[in-house]
Amino acid sequence: MKETELKKLLDSMTLEEKLCQMTQCEPLKADEEKSLGVNPDIKTKGLTEKQYYSVGSMIVYVPKAADLRRVQKEHLKRDPHKIPLLFMSDVLHGKETVFPIPLAMGCSFNTELLKECYEVSAEECAASGVHTVFAPAIDLSRDARWGRSMESFGEDPCLSSRMAGAAVTGFQGNGDTIDENHVSCCAKHYLGYGAVTGGRDYNCAEISDNELYNYYLPSFKAAVENNVSMIMTSFNTLNGVPMTVNEHANRQILRGDLGFDGVLISDYNSLGECENHGISSSSEKLAELGIKATLDIEMMNTLILNNGEKSVKGGAVDEEYIDSAVLRILRLKNKLGLFEDPFKGLSEEKEESFFNNLKSREKSREIAEQSAVLLKNSGVLPLKSFEKIWLCGPLSVSEEVGGEWAFSMQKPYNVSLFEGISNIIGKENIILSKTDKIYRIEDIDSKEKEDIPYPESADEFENCKTCIIAVGEHMGDTGEASSKTNIRLTKNQAELVKKVKQSGKKTVVIVFSGRPLDISDIEPYSDALIYAWYLGCESGNALARLIFGLSNPSGKLAMSLPRCVGQCPIYYNHLNTGRPYNKTNRFSCGYTDCENEPLFSFGFGLSYTEFRYEDISVNKNEIKIKVKNTGDFDGFETIQLYVSLKDTSVSQPVKALKDFKKIFLKSGEEKEITFKINKDMFSFYKNKVKTLEKCSAVLFLRAQSGEFIKISDFEVCL
Ligand code: BGC
Repeated sequence: MKETELKKLLDSMTLEEKLCQMTQCEPLKADEEKSLGVNPDIKTKGLTEKQYYSVGSMIVYVPKAADLRRVQKEHLKRDPHKIPLLFMSDVLHGKETVFPIPLAMGCSFNTELLKECYEVSAEECAASGVHTVFAPAIDLSRDARWGRSMESFGEDPCLSSRMAGAAVTGFQGNGDTIDENHVSCCAKHYLGYGAVTGGRDYNCAEISDNELYNYYLPSFKAAVENNVSMIMTSFNTLNGVPMTVNEHANRQILRGDLGFDGVLISDYNSLGECENHGISSSSEKLAELGIKATLDIEMMNTLILNNGEKSVKGGAVDEEYIDSAVLRILRLKNKLGLFEDPFKGLSEEKEESFFNNLKSREKSREIAEQSAVLLKNSGVLPLKSFEKIWLCGPLSVSEEVGGEWAFSMQKPYNVSLFEGISNIIGKENIILSKTDKIYRIEDIDSKEKEDIPYPESADEFENCKTCIIAVGEHMGDTGEASSKTNIRLTKNQAELVKKVKQSGKKTVVIVFSGRPLDISDIEPYSDALIYAWYLGCESGNALARLIFGLSNPSGKLAMSLPRCVGQCPIYYNHLNTGRPYNKTNRFSCGYTDCENEPLFSFGFGLSYTEFRYEDISVNKNEIKIKVKNTGDFDGFETIQLYVSLKDTSVSQPVKALKDFKKIFLKSGEEKEITFKINKDMFSFYKNKVKTLEKCSAVLFLRAQSGEFIKISDFEVCL
C-alpha cells in the first residue's frame, strides 16, 4: 500500500477502531470464541466481541501455522476494515531450533553467526505465521543476581550494540520491507531494566545521565540505526518515572534524539502496573500518560481502549497522538506486506520442514561451540584418547540445558551432555554415576540428596582417570522473575567437585547457568572448567566436541564472573575513583574481605591453541596487527581493542572495548587485521551530548592470558 492509501484507511476509521489497533490480547481457541460476549476469557481482558475482532495484534506463546491461519481468517471476516492482525511471539533464542541463550551467544563475539542464527529463527517464525518477535533483549546487564541477565548480551555497550545490530538484521533482513522469510523484531526492554536495584526483577532503576547515555542507551541506538521495527518499554521506573509513561525517555530521547519512528509497545500490562508504581489509580489518567509518552500498543490490557475516547473527547489527549500511533502500526503491517497478503510467509509444510531440521541444528551447534567459555585448563583438555570417562553431576543427563525462553520446540528435545559424549565415544565408555537431578531453588533443601555418587564398581573407578562433572543451576531459576541473592552452587554440588578431585581424578567441570555464578567454591578443584551457560538444542554435542578437541573453544565472557555475590554489580569498565584499588592500602576503593577483581573478567576465555600478536603498527587512521596461530590447533581468536582516556573533563572507564574482530586461523597460519580508528572511539556523552575532547588515550589489546597489552599512546586532537 502507498502511504497515501494508509492515511486514507486511517481517516476512514472510527476512534474506537483506532484504539482497537492500539490493543493487544491473546487469541482465543476455536471453542473459546463461542463464549465471547457472555464470559470473555481473561486473555481478552473483557473485550466485547466487536472489539476482539478489531484489535490490531495478538500475542502467541506457542505459535502454530494452522492456528494462526484460523485466527487471521476469522478476524478478516469480521474486522470492519479488513486490517490484518499482527501476531507477536517471544522468540529470544530460537523457535523450533533452540540456540544458546543470548548471554552465551554474546560470548561468541561472532556477530555474523548470530545474525545467521536469527535468520533461521525468522524463517521458522514466518512459516508459523508470526510477524513480530519480542527480541532481541538488549538490556545492559551487570548484575548476576538479575535472572534476566541470561536474555542480554552482557555488560559491555560495544558488544551489546554490535550484537543488537546483528540480531535486528538477522530477524528483519536488510530491506525497507520485510520479506516472507523474515519477521519484524522488537528490541527490549527500554530502558535501564538491567540496572534494577539489587538485581531484583521489576524493581526501580536510578541511572545518572552519564551512565544512561554512555552505557544503557547505545544498544538501543544501534537497534534503531539498524531499522528495528518495534521497541518494548520496560517494567521499571527510570529515575522515578515508569518507562511505559516516561514521556521524556520515550518522546524526547527515543523518538527525538535516536530518531525511532517505529512502534512502541508496552510490556505485559506495564501500563496498568503504573497504578502500583503510584502514578495514578485512574485508568483514564494512565491511558492519557501512555498515549502522551507515544505508546502505540498496550500489551494485555485495555486501559487505552477503554479510556482513550474519553481522553480525546475531554480534551486531555489530542486525537493527533492516536492517529500517529495507529499510522505507525499500519505502516508496520504494510512493511510486512500484510495488506497484500495477510498470510504472507505462513506455510504448514514449511513449518513442518523446520521440526528437528538438521541444517538449522548444525547452526545451533556451531554457535554453541563458540559460546561456551573455557575458563581454566591445566593441561587436561582436550581429552585426547577415548579412554573411559566417569561422568557425574546433576546436569549430566538432563535435557533441560537448552535455556529458558524457548517455548516452541518439539521433541526430540535438547541433547544432554551424556548423549553428546556418547555420540563421540560410545555409551560403553562412559561410567555414569546415578547422580541426583537438578532442582528448582525452592526444592533444594527438601529434595537434594546428601550422598555423593561414586561409580558402583571399584574396578571402573580405578580405570578412569578423568571425571566430567556437570553442575549448575536449574534452567527454571533463570530468566524473568528469577532474581537470586545466592548465586553459588548448592553445597552438594560444590562437595561433589571437591570429593572427586580429592579422589585423585582429573576433574573437568562443566557449569550450566543463565547468569554468572559464584564458582569460587569449585574453581580450585577443577583441572579444567568450561562455562557452558545453556547452549540450546545441540548443547551436549557442542560440549562433547569441545571436550574431545573436535572443536576448539573460542568463547569470551560477555559478563564477568564475581568472586561472591557481594561484588555485584561488577563490570570491567568502571571508573577509576580518586583512590584506585590497591591491595596493600586499606584506604583505597575496595573491600576489606574480598578482592576487587572478578574471578574471571569480561572478555576472558581460553583456547587450545596460542595466538601471538606481532608487527603492531598504529597511525592516526588505523591499527594493524599480525595475528599468528602458534599452537597445534586450528581455532578462532577474538582480537579485542580497548581504549582508556585521560585528561578528560569527565572521568572515563579504566578501559572500554571499542572494537573487536573474530578470525579463524589454522595452526601456523597468520593474518593481518586492521582496526579503523575513528572519533567515536574517543568520544563520550557529557550532559547528554556526544563530546570529543582534546585528551590522551591509550590503546590496548587483550591477550589470551587476560592481560591487557598496551599497544600505543594516542593523542586525541579535535
Ligand atoms: C516480559 C517480556 C515479554 C512479554 C510477553 C513480559 O513478562 O517482560 O519480555 O516479551 O512478557 O511475553
